[in-house]
Amino acid sequence: MSLSVRALAAAALADMLHDKSPMSLQQTLPPIMQACLPRDRGLLMELVHGTARQGLYLQAILKPMLQKPATDMKLQALLMLGLYQLMFTRIPAHAALQETVGAARDLDMPGLTGLINAVLRRFQRESDTLIAAAQTEIHAHPRWLVDTLRRDWPEQSESMMAANNQIPGLTLRVNLRHVSRDAYLDMMLAQGLAARALDTPQGIALDEGLDLTKLPHFTDGWVSIQDAHAQRAAYELRLQPGQRVLDACAAPGGKAAHILELADVNLLALDHDIHRLQRVEENLTRLQLTAELRQADARDPDSWWDGQPFDRILLDAPCSGTGVIRRHPDIKWLRRPRDIIANARVQRELLDKLWPLLAPGGLMLYATCSLLREENDLCISRFLHDHADAQCLPLEGADPSFPGLQLFPGPHDGFYYALLQRQGA
Ligand SMILES: C[S@@+](CC[C@H](N)C(=O)[O-])C[C@H]1O[C@@H](n2cnc3c(N)ncnc32)[C@H](O)[C@@H]1O
Repeated sequence: MSLSVRALAAAALADMLHDKSPMSLQQTLPPIMQACLPRDRGLLMELVHGTARQGLYLQAILKPMLQKPATDMKLQALLMLGLYQLMFTRIPAHAALQETVGAARDLDMPGLTGLINAVLRRFQRESDTLIAAAQTEIHAHPRWLVDTLRRDWPEQSESMMAANNQIPGLTLRVNLRHVSRDAYLDMMLAQGLAARALDTPQGIALDEGLDLTKLPHFTDGWVSIQDAHAQRAAYELRLQPGQRVLDACAAPGGKAAHILELADVNLLALDHDIHRLQRVEENLTRLQLTAELRQADARDPDSWWDGQPFDRILLDAPCSGTGVIRRHPDIKWLRRPRDIIANARVQRELLDKLWPLLAPGGLMLYATCSLLREENDLCISRFLHDHADAQCLPLEGADPSFPGLQLFPGPHDGFYYALLQRQGA
């Protein structure tokens, strides 16, 4: 018997909620999507992402209604899922209750249907009081992250957290090697796809999600999915034809492809994860672009570098992902403070090991999708302090009192960029 949408959603969420070894939705969702009827997949995604996004707030509302915390993760997931539907969707309350209780039966939890029913009905009766009591958790972020954001960004932290709780839109990057942005937009509008140009040279915003294969010439490589703030990276590199360019952390290849769309350069794309590197290959093949791809640890140039300096290096470093929580709400559940310390160490190692590979006068763009200063301007400040031959160049829109440019989440993702030039040309 196939499981209902709510039962599948609760199974994915329960794995994410696991306190010792939580699993990311990227790990749990693919098999669960396969098990779901195609017509229900949109609803499944909405329920899982929405519950993950609002989950910490939902837990705070549930707390006074439970005599002791629900240690069974599937029970916790079902209660959160039921409450999410009642508070954040247009699903009629009677259907939300009935389907969520039914999901408990699907998951072989018949003894808990009474509890789930009672909790959700109590919420319906006492919603005003229960919601008022949970106001301090309305930001739906883990305590450590709230504290860090408030310390790092006292004026912007509340709007950052509100932005992290928005449903992200879909942004396209038109491949100018094939078609102009305006011509592509006209093709979309002619097909009845609601879209508008962004104030980036190649960006188009879609008003609604859609099946990518419906985009004109998607399989021919005329267009890719890429957030507008991510589309800055390739431009900031100030590429010239014939340059030797390194993309040190390349997978899945969004920025590598953009570099190759903009300039005829010799690109070496590294990633230490072979499976993710395959995605770079798939993306470049679809876009009809070529680069040298190599599985390697960028921190160990002796194992992969031919000794020829690079004119440009993109270091899109592994990070907390706190700027892309809108797209990956499970980051709220998966990240721990110790991860930030570990990331900062790897980021610093990557910077130190790659810097000598840059030609004098060359440019290195350090990028993260993090909002945390430890991974961004503090990391770059320390690097600049230790490297007399490194200069941080100004980026448009940056606050001159910090090195680099912090882009906040809002309509687009949160990103950080620092453009470093090696002196001595
Ligand atoms: C933020 S993602 C890069 C996104 C990519 N630049 C894009 O635009 O599609 C970071 C990547 O760094 C890779 N990575 C992490 N540590 C690495 C290392 N030491 N050497 C090479 N790649 C690494 C990860 O596997 C991951 O694919």
